[in-house]
Amino acid sequence: MEEQADDLRGFMNSQPKSNHNTRIIAITSGKGGVGKTNLSVNMAIAYAQLGKKVVLIDGDLGMANVNVLLNIVPKYNLMHVINNKKTMKEIILDTEFGIKFIAGANGFSKIANLNQDELTDFANQFTTLGNADIIIIDTGAGIANNVLQFVAAADEVYVVTTPEPTSITDAYGIIKIITTEIVDRQVNLKLIVNRVHSADEGKRIADRIINIAAQFLGYKVDYVGFVYEDTVVSSSVIRQKPFIVVNPTSKSSQCLKHIVGRIEKSEPMGNSGVLNFLKKFISKK
Ligand SMILES: Nc1ncnc2c1ncn2[C@@H]1O[C@H](COP(=O)(O)OP(=O)(O)OP(=O)(O)O)[C@@H](O)[C@H]1O
Ligand SMILES: [Mg+2]
Repeated sequence: MEEQADDLRGFMNSQPKSNHNTRIIAITSGKGGVGKTNLSVNMAIAYAQLGKKVVLIDGDLGMANVNVLLNIVPKYNLMHVINNKKTMKEIILDTEFGIKFIAGANGFSKIANLNQDELTDFANQFTTLGNADIIIIDTGAGIANNVLQFVAAADEVYVVTTPEPTSITDAYGIIKIITTEIVDRQVNLKLIVNRVHSADEGKRIADRIINIAAQFLGYKVDYVGFVYEDTVVSSSVIRQKPFIVVNPTSKSSQCLKHIVGRIEKSEPMGNSGVLNFLKKFISKK
């Protein structure tokens, strides 16, 4: 794996230096079904509405749900690029919502098995994503290896929880795993509390998780905001139209826009950009 990282370093040094740093964020959770995919999709669209170039990647390798929420059926996915069957340009989908979408399938972790030439080819394709202002990766829940890989490689990681006690416990659990497994660098961890009934509830839950993480892990987690429990979310899932588009003034949409505004105001940390992402992705394997 070190060898692969060296190959990639060589490739990176041969690339023209671009001053465009794509911000790469991963959305994850301990417990499943807490709203990651809904938040990822609608956050991506809210970002695009600010005039940003956004790429959304479905990193949930078990159940690809982003395409269901966007009501599109992707023909190709990242695996086709990794296998050199398609170019990135050929697999990336334009959507009617102003964001681009990449279906993940089971391919991503395979990049760790590529030989030098294949890796260079893939990295070449991957760098075309460097035009994006932000890449949002919707990961699966829990501690599967590929989830950790995405998490380790992203510039920022958003952990989603709901007020349910099991969700809170699992959110702490995933924070603990992330902070103990990814030892080589600080992960920029943020918290979103979904499905709350009041702002106070969100704050209270966030404080609890943040305090436990500080006390037992010595780790600082930032609270970025909450999303109200809102029937608009489930009805938009059924209609397969993102709520931020169909109900832009709903409580849930306003919360999402607020969260995106806060993310946009905060400075991206560390070495961002698509090649750094790839490098970190490979070295975590
Ligand atoms: N703020 C909300 N208000 C009401 N319902 C919500 C809200 N957020 C999510 N839901 C409901 O929870 C369901 C699950 O959401 P979603 O699929 O986004 O979760 P997930 O974390 O991506 O799940 P998985 O772990 O299976 O990938 C949605 O279909 C929706 O009905
Ligand atoms: Mg999901």
